[in-house]
Amino acid sequence: MADIIDGRAIARQLDEKTKAQVDELLAAGHPAPGLAVILVGEDGASQVYVRRKIKACEKVGINSIEHRLPADTSQEHLLALIDTLNKDKRVHGILCQVPLPPHIDTRLVLRSISPAKDVDGFHPVNVGRLTTGVGGIVPCTPLGVMLLIESVLPDLKGKDVVVIGKSNIVGKPVANLLLDAEATVTVTHIYTENLPDLCRKADVVVAAAGAPELVKGWWVKPGAVLIDVGITRVMGEDGKEKLLGDIAFDEVQHARAVTPVPGGVGPMTISCLLLNTVQAAKNLLEPEAPRGDDYADAPDRSMYSAS
Ligand code: GUN
Repeated sequence: MADIIDGRAIARQLDEKTKAQVDELLAAGHPAPGLAVILVGEDGASQVYVRRKIKACEKVGINSIEHRLPADTSQEHLLALIDTLNKDKRVHGILCQVPLPPHIDTRLVLRSISPAKDVDGFHPVNVGRLTTGVGGIVPCTPLGVMLLIESVLPDLKGKDVVVIGKSNIVGKPVANLLLDAEATVTVTHIYTENLPDLCRKADVVVAAAGAPELVKGWWVKPGAVLIDVGITRVMGEDGKEKLLGDIAFDEVQHARAVTPVPGGVGPMTISCLLLNTVQAAKNLLEPEAPRGDDYADAPDRSMYSAS
């Protein structure tokens, strides 16, 4: 029987540590870390995600500041808001929920967030830091994926890892983090040939394709560790909606461990956002700390350790 990697429990442990860091800041006379969350438009899924993020902030003592803007908000107005938040000393992290309405240039907006406050880790400066292995803010889902893998496989040196999906938000940053951990990484995508064969050789599979139950049982090596980033809403035979991951969960009992959907990667993404917000607040307190506006070496990522 494969172990189930309980993302909710690991996320809870991480939240406790994050809360302890917030308490330390408060005890030292600093204000609570502040996270500005911007939501433009009425996208249903985005509304759910933003609600969860704001609720999670409350649990650890982060002060969340919500900015809900109508779908027809101009790009100029959004950029002006971000400019104000970049300068606001009470705001340590800024998150602009994507997708944005089509008339807004998402890349331009994400680049306009100060790298020091970019708790999503989407700014090119933070992407550059990640790819060169010099710290900076690590995107939340990839960081969560790493912590889940390391909860069962603390040493990834020389392990064969297959990443399915090459998105900027998950596939590419996960691959970089795995390389930093000295795994041998194969990043695959829609044009990859022999994906099942590649997976069958892998010690770890990270599935982030957004294709429900893509990874079949016979693709999986006995004893492999499986991380499922996919989450797709489908209609079940009973007429009820259900959520499916990218891994055929019922077929992989010969794996060593697998993350469930829901309850695996999802809760970790939110906990890593909280961690990033507190880290950003701490960095902003220290005049010498790298703010992302320069390329000085950042501290290593030991602060992200789950244990
Ligand atoms: N939309 C879906 N996931 C995310 C995320 O992690 N950050 C932001 N900003 N938008 C998202």
